[in-house]
Amino acid sequence: MALTSKWHFARVELARSYIDQINSGLSSIAIFAERRKGKTEFLVEDLAPAASKAGFRTVYINFWEQKSDPVHCIAKGVERSLEQGSKQDNQGFAYESLELLLKPKREVLLMFDEIQHLATDVKFEELIATIRTFLDSNKNRVRAVFTGSSQSRLNSIFRHQKSAFYRGASLVDFPDMDEKFIHHLLSVFKSITTTMLNETRANVIFEQFNYSPFLMVDLLQTMMREGMADFDVGLDYYVKTNNPHQQWQQLWRELKPIDQLVLTQVIGQQRPLYHDETYQLVGDLLGIDEVTRGMMQSSIKRLKDMDIVNCVARGAWEIESVEFQQFLIDEL
Ligand SMILES: Nc1ncnc2c1ncn2[C@@H]1O[C@H](COP(=O)(O)OP(=O)(O)OP(=O)(O)O)[C@@H](O)[C@H]1O
Ligand SMILES: [Mg+2]
Repeated sequence: MALTSKWHFARVELARSYIDQINSGLSSIAIFAERRKGKTEFLVEDLAPAASKAGFRTVYINFWEQKSDPVHCIAKGVERSLEQGSKQDNQGFAYESLELLLKPKREVLLMFDEIQHLATDVKFEELIATIRTFLDSNKNRVRAVFTGSSQSRLNSIFRHQKSAFYRGASLVDFPDMDEKFIHHLLSVFKSITTTMLNETRANVIFEQFNYSPFLMVDLLQTMMREGMADFDVGLDYYVKTNNPHQQWQQLWRELKPIDQLVLTQVIGQQRPLYHDETYQLVGDLLGIDEVTRGMMQSSIKRLKDMDIVNCVARGAWEIESVEFQQFLIDEL
């Protein structure tokens, strides 16, 4: 494991509270938070060390390590945990890989990062069932933490009755970081540059960044590199050189016109999706004679598959990312 970065803000209490939860009955928990909110850093830098101290063997598995092959991702995670570094009998099936963990009689904490990836292809269903079976068969010794960044995909894994993971984990909150995090970052900045930045201003910026630790750390590291000692100068430079909205702009440009309208005119305005007036409006804006229910259905399906929207209740949709929603309000 890499040396902890000096920018890292330790979330000791949060780690302890999760460990308490998995020790007191909820043997598996699922954590959901938006992209770049600090899930991975938390798992690796805070939860794993705390769990080791509490006596667990910890295993970090990331399904994005090799997206086409989740079994390989499990084997890699197990291999890292066993610290053997060799590939010997560890390339086989997921269940055999996981069983290697049980050999020394210790409790095991499995951390599955990017679990939503398993909801992207039906061919991964069997693996979901394998993991569930492993967890159920060894529930007195094995705990699991699942992490994902798509609410709808997590729902499809843990809340759909047909899924093998149905009720396989309790969804728990992953809170945003607060002023203590900002205070810590500014202390680090000061220790490197001797400049003490304005803390009130930093907190406002953090809020504007939708509490993204990534953007905040990136801004401060940029200011440090460029020798900037003032947020007015730093933020201006950062936004110009590093437009945080760039990814959203690109995503927006890639959408079909009808999908853009469904996002801004229907979901953004809370209009009913399947309604004659909505079809009329979208048709007028697209400049075509007829918009059908089928066209709306296909549009919403595309948006859902791209993880842009999330079905919160029957017929009710919301934009999954608060940042993207803000982009739509600000830029369009
Ligand atoms: N506790 C922390 N202390 C300091 N910086 C942090 C912390 N957590 C996250 N960061 C910063 O935010 C960045 C993104 O964090 P991380 O990769 O853990 O997010 P994530 O939620 O796993 O994102 P994704 O969903 O894209 O995988 C880190 O590279 C780091 O710069
Ligand atoms: Mg991550």
